[in-house]
Amino acid sequence: MNKLALLTIAIATTHTAQADVEFLHWWTSQGEQKALTVLKQQLNENQITLSPSPVLGGGGDSAMTVLQARAIAGNPPSFAQIEGPSIKAWDAIGILHDVDSVAKKHQWDEILYPLTIQINKSDNGYVALPLTLHRLNWLWVNHSLLQQLNQPVPTTWHEMFSVMELAKSSGINPLAVGEQPWQIAQLFENLVIATGGVEFYSRAMVDLKSDSINSDTLRQALKQLRRLSLLTDNQLDDDKWDTATTALANNQALFQLGGDWILGELMAKGISVPSQIGCYPTPESDGVFLYNMDSLIFMASKSFNAQQASTTANLLADKQFQAQFNLVKGSIPVRMDIDINHYNPCQIQSYQDFKQALDKKKAVPSMIDSMAVNPVAQQAINSEIFRFYRNKQLTEETVIKRIIAIAESN
Ligand code: BGC
Repeated sequence: MNKLALLTIAIATTHTAQADVEFLHWWTSQGEQKALTVLKQQLNENQITLSPSPVLGGGGDSAMTVLQARAIAGNPPSFAQIEGPSIKAWDAIGILHDVDSVAKKHQWDEILYPLTIQINKSDNGYVALPLTLHRLNWLWVNHSLLQQLNQPVPTTWHEMFSVMELAKSSGINPLAVGEQPWQIAQLFENLVIATGGVEFYSRAMVDLKSDSINSDTLRQALKQLRRLSLLTDNQLDDDKWDTATTALANNQALFQLGGDWILGELMAKGISVPSQIGCYPTPESDGVFLYNMDSLIFMASKSFNAQQASTTANLLADKQFQAQFNLVKGSIPVRMDIDINHYNPCQIQSYQDFKQALDKKKAVPSMIDSMAVNPVAQQAINSEIFRFYRNKQLTEETVIKRIIAIAESN
């Protein structure tokens, strides 16, 4: 047999050996797609073909609804993006493949942060694979617009409001906001931290304690949110967070507030960060690390058995892959043994701030996307906050009453 024939057989053999796995996720923006390509390549180079099932809508609310519907119909994807306490809820239903052997092989008990272990490990062992650690209390600043206004970067909300008012009166969009419930809730949780501090935030927004929700501190945070809503008439083409980032990158907005997926987006657009667009802790949240964490769950089905799950998970637990994925995504690794010296300066700062916040007990989960509270309560709270933001007639008392009702039925 000549060389060409041998080569043809070799290629055909490799091709038929490729297994197909389906991944349900909400990584649909430019930066997220770039990170997804890293994941795709990692599997592809190891004879696994990825069929992505993207569900539009950052924050994952729509993706979670689709995931539930597919699980009920007995047609789950092979694996899915997931966050927080819902991991254990999915595990309790009994349709997840555990990833315990992968965890042992990669020594997760030793190399993961305790909070990562706590989220991804149930009584049945590790039931999810952690991938990213995102910081949410970031203020992204367009330096050339701020310079045009001749203003320093605000460190308090008082300063933040005055520079936004100045921007508005100078014809500059002060804050690019994607008008969706989870994004408005994200503004609100930052205001709650600034108004009451992390302990108060945890009591009110994570533990959902009625006496903390029904408080002057929360009323004050809502007042600030109202003030923000009056300042930001939506000047965007649509309500997506990445459209807001495009406005920020194109000098059409002074600030954007939100998670470091914004960094991934800016880097994918070739924007230089932090010189062109800078990253700063949101006002009055210095020392605080508001986080969420993307994990992956592997779902049992006729087309995806335990062996396939373990092979796939093993590749995605790989140290090199996890390092490369987070570098592109804008986040920081969940493994403590990854060197991030070559990451973007905002990621390096995020990493240092995370470690300090852990020491000082100032690392807190974000409530905007099922990281802190269960998805049903979280979506209900987000939509109450969103309604308040949109409907200027609604009073603080109404929202507080509704959030308490949600907390009590939780
Ligand atoms: C996820 C990120 C994602 C962001 C925006 C968050 O819930 O954790 O990975 O980039 O939503 O889509």
